[in-house]
Amino acid sequence: MSFTADRLLLFGATGDLAQRMLLPSLCALCADNLLAPDLAIIGTARQEMDDQGYRNFVRAALEKFLPAERRGSMAGFLNRLHYQPLDANETDHFAALADKVGPQDDGLAIFLSTAPNLFEPTIAGLSAAGLTHGKVRIGLEKPLGTCLESSREINDAVASAFSEDRIFRIDHYLGKETVQNLLALRFANIMFEPLWNAAHIDHVQITVAETVGLEGRVGFYDGAGALRDMVQNHMLQLLALVAMEPPVSYNATAVRDEKVKVLRSLRKILPEETVTGQYTAGAIAGQAVPGYADELGKPSETETFVAIKAHLDNWRWKGVPFYLRTGKRLPARKTEIIIQFRPVPYSIFDARGATAQPNRLVIGIQPEENISLSLMAKVPGLDRGGIRLRPVPLDIDMPDAFAGPTKRIAYERLLLDLVEGDQTLFVRRDEVEAQWEWIDAVRASWADKGLAPKTYTAGSWGPTAAIALAERDGVTWHE
Ligand code: BG6
Repeated sequence: MSFTADRLLLFGATGDLAQRMLLPSLCALCADNLLAPDLAIIGTARQEMDDQGYRNFVRAALEKFLPAERRGSMAGFLNRLHYQPLDANETDHFAALADKVGPQDDGLAIFLSTAPNLFEPTIAGLSAAGLTHGKVRIGLEKPLGTCLESSREINDAVASAFSEDRIFRIDHYLGKETVQNLLALRFANIMFEPLWNAAHIDHVQITVAETVGLEGRVGFYDGAGALRDMVQNHMLQLLALVAMEPPVSYNATAVRDEKVKVLRSLRKILPEETVTGQYTAGAIAGQAVPGYADELGKPSETETFVAIKAHLDNWRWKGVPFYLRTGKRLPARKTEIIIQFRPVPYSIFDARGATAQPNRLVIGIQPEENISLSLMAKVPGLDRGGIRLRPVPLDIDMPDAFAGPTKRIAYERLLLDLVEGDQTLFVRRDEVEAQWEWIDAVRASWADKGLAPKTYTAGSWGPTAAIALAERDGVTWHE
């Protein structure tokens, strides 16, 4: 459904996500003249405030979370803002909200980030107030459920009011420039694709490491854990982009058709193919940090680290393990993908005492955005007795290669696509359900075995069992 909405309605407009990400993204887009001049932004949340009060609130958030050089003239942005208090449990409050939104002939985009128990009442309220017609689209922020069943309930509730082409499920990793670059790397170059399969790739590693701990999200995180918070969405999306077949075109249907096939080919894993951990007190960058249970204020069995050896049962990836790991309070903030190629089929150098090490492609997603391909090269010298070989990196530093374009917040891209109606970087229902199906099976296998997370010291790379998980196969995590 192609239309550019001239109204954007933000639920959770006073929340953490809005303050840190959504409002700074919108302000930055506005500063770059990327928002249509007539786009009005209506915020809603429980708090009582009028338009002016909200503008003051937003100004403070922008001053805190958006670098001054990206703010432009804030006045222009603040003038677009309006506010309507709302208790989502009160269906009749939605009439006042609809009044505040005003005419929607050119289309309305809704961004819904709310507690899972408010999804259904919110959809009901929107329907009752006539805010679900054909020119309304809705963006949904996670958590969209905690298992396949609860995610289906939410999806059903949303589907009762919006057709799938008007539902935009957000995974903010897809808004990251470097994640989109994975598609460019794979499908805009000829040299990788012929090698991108089990015949030439030994294994893949995906690491999403964070140094932060609970960050005050006590209520949410303890009920989720690393598997549901990070693997179910971000990591499986990264895996899908690495493993998918070439889509027939770069559009929402074609890209998502291929991703879902990958997600459906994930093999049910065995309990011994996963390791979970929970951090205890330690130090990060020389700073002492408390353990998870201390931050939480009570003992817990929630995992803050998970490592998984995953498999895809399809032709391309038969026999290639995908090692995934993510955790809080690890030594560095780092998201990267490693493609480890196989050795050359026969090394002509062995007899002369030199070994050709297999090539490796390292795709840095954050904080460094770089792509590095290790190639074997001859070490210069006369070496009359033999030849010396050494891996040398072929490095592309993305910011250097593209000096100029601003580093954008992932939500800038996603909010713009929501307003303009491009679903390519949003997750389709069948993808989310395939993700949950696999994750639920992982959790069921933990429950069957009564597995509890092992401890690891904050500032380490997780429990030693995670190292063993890879080393059993002769694989070393890339650090
Ligand atoms: C969120 C998780 O989805 O992603 C957080 O809920 C996590 O726990 C965050 O910290 C990581 O995002 P980013 O963009 O900082 O890698």
